[in-house]
Amino acid sequence: MKHIAVFAMMVAGLLLSGLSGCDDGEIREENEVFVDDGYVVKMNGSLKNMEEWSDKYQIVVAAFAAQDSYPLLAKAVPVSERLQEFTFEGINPNCESIELCVLNLINKRVATLATIYNKSNEPNRKLADTICFKADDVDAGMFACIQNNIFTKRCAYCHGMGETPAAGLYLTEGDSYKSLVGVASSTIDSLKRVDPGHAENSVLYKVLTEYGDSCGWHYNHTRFFYGSAMSNLVKEWINQGVSQ
Ligand code: HEC
Repeated sequence: MKHIAVFAMMVAGLLLSGLSGCDDGEIREENEVFVDDGYVVKMNGSLKNMEEWSDKYQIVVAAFAAQDSYPLLAKAVPVSERLQEFTFEGINPNCESIELCVLNLINKRVATLATIYNKSNEPNRKLADTICFKADDVDAGMFACIQNNIFTKRCAYCHGMGETPAAGLYLTEGDSYKSLVGVASSTIDSLKRVDPGHAENSVLYKVLTEYGDSCGWHYNHTRFFYGSAMSNLVKEWINQGVSQ
């Protein structure tokens, strides 16, 4: 009796290991094909206004580790009237996010145009799936970048979202451009908030880079930025003639 029971257990064990071996085999086969290759992103459509960027910047599809401003891997999106299809293969499967974004000359991300993939939203995505992204609705212009990445995120709650905007300046979407460009400053009499072509004479650029006893404002705006990547973006936009 004892022998039969042991034998039965052995057979069951063999069967079980055989079964799980089959399952493993299937997963392994998938992994063999895709783990080394990583994610694939296919982007369709055309990006609006991407020709506004000078060669100090690049629009890329890039993979990021958590909280990092420097990509693990990036591929430049070619500037063309009509971008039909852009494919980026071999993206590190351990990345936290894949973005359509703007990098500066030292490959630091200065603005996110769109998030294509975010691991925390899609923990179960399989490597075998190609990630498709439609670019048609993305405004890749400099001003849209500044609005979405700086004004809306860091400034609008004092400048326009409350009852009275600080310094009478609106930085909310739809209002910011006409509240800035060519408008006299309320803190420095002789200057404009934005003087097209002249960042050094524009109070918008000055508040982001200067603070001290001699400046015309009390609120220290320079604390919003670590490093100069974002204020340089504002400077470029003003010096290139304030595209809208
Ligand atoms: C916590 C509130 C607060 C936030 C956030 C804030 N500001 Fe201000 N800002 C002020 C105040 C208050 C003034 C009025 C001048 C002063 O400091 O006394 C001002 C003044 C300004 C001025 C001068 C306007 C003029 O007519 O001279 C500009 C330009 C400006 N802010 C831009 C920004 C930008 C860009 C951001 C985001 C990066 C920002 N501010 C975020 C409070 C804020």
